[in-house]
Amino acid sequence: MIPLSRPVLGTEEATAIASVLETGRLVQGARVAEFEALIAERTGRRHAIAVCNGTAALRVALEALLIGPGDRVLVPDLTWPSPAHAVLDLHATPVLVDVDRHEWNISPSSLRSLPPPTLRGLRAAIVIDQFGLPARVRELQELLPDVPILVDAACSLGSHTGQEPCGGLGVIACLSFHPRKVVTTGEGGMCLTDDPELAECLRELRNHGQSSPGTFGRASGNYRLSDIAAAMGVVQLSRLSGMVEARTELAARYTSALEGLVQMQRPAAGARPNYQTFGVLLPEGRDREQALQALRALDIEAGKLSYALHTLPQFVSEAHEARELGQSFPNSIALAERGIALPLWPGLSTEDQSKVIDAVRAVVA
Ligand SMILES: Cc1ncc(COP(=O)(O)O)c(C=O)c1O
Repeated sequence: MIPLSRPVLGTEEATAIASVLETGRLVQGARVAEFEALIAERTGRRHAIAVCNGTAALRVALEALLIGPGDRVLVPDLTWPSPAHAVLDLHATPVLVDVDRHEWNISPSSLRSLPPPTLRGLRAAIVIDQFGLPARVRELQELLPDVPILVDAACSLGSHTGQEPCGGLGVIACLSFHPRKVVTTGEGGMCLTDDPELAECLRELRNHGQSSPGTFGRASGNYRLSDIAAAMGVVQLSRLSGMVEARTELAARYTSALEGLVQMQRPAAGARPNYQTFGVLLPEGRDREQALQALRALDIEAGKLSYALHTLPQFVSEAHEARELGQSFPNSIALAERGIALPLWPGLSTEDQSKVIDAVRAVVA
């Protein structure tokens, strides 16, 4: 089977983990601090706060921004549900909006085409660098000048907008280190910010609400990252540039081979994605399940690309509100119904990629 994704792991990760085990200090030790410092440097941020996964990063970030019951928080409709679940977790309301048909992120033009009441009274906006493709955060902030933007950069470590590295924008940006992401720690996440007060608050929120050992300023859970995971992350980060380079070459080959047959995500001019996920949109009328089965029959693991949140049962009242406001979701629906993620990871051989390309051509023909 040609897998959809495969982390790049070597003896260096094993050695780094073994050295943490030898110290006996497994939580919030030197490796977590080192990993945070390296990510902060890489993304041009003042503060990095490691947590146990990307969903936890979003959860504590929203809490640090004082999002609470009834608050309206913008969330792109096309996504893995984590950001909207984090909003619901705080009894706030996700305001679901369609994505741009070319970029598959929310964009200035996608926001401008919304019925105006949609954007009224927002307490925050979550902007996602979907599949690693940099969103236009600066332009979106100009359109929403009074709304704090939380960037969900779960997929985009190693991507670049052309002006700054992804993770570098937003009042807080959140990363994930799940094995499907370019840099993995097994499970892991991080919040990035330039604001010292938010950083302090995030550190308390990840650690039972403690401002110092035994001093509890607020109630919170345990969202800490282990030193074992961080040690792995430090090694993974040293591989990041090489992994992005390899992914970019593979993505370029898919793009030239499949141009005109399927639609692909299109970055803004100058943006350099990390190609965390390579998605294709099948032509209208094609049955995605049949296509996935045909690929599987050829030993190719391809997957459903993403989800249109307003169609999921947990967002039934948000979908109702959107309909009442006159919103529609043609792009997220098309991508959720006909989008496919193709195998892409640094070790994918030219021969295997050719098999995938031929199979997609056959499916579309
Ligand atoms: C856009 C986005 N945000 C958040 C997450 C959640 O990250 P994690 O799996 O580390 O909780 C994911 C995970 O796939 C994601 O794709």
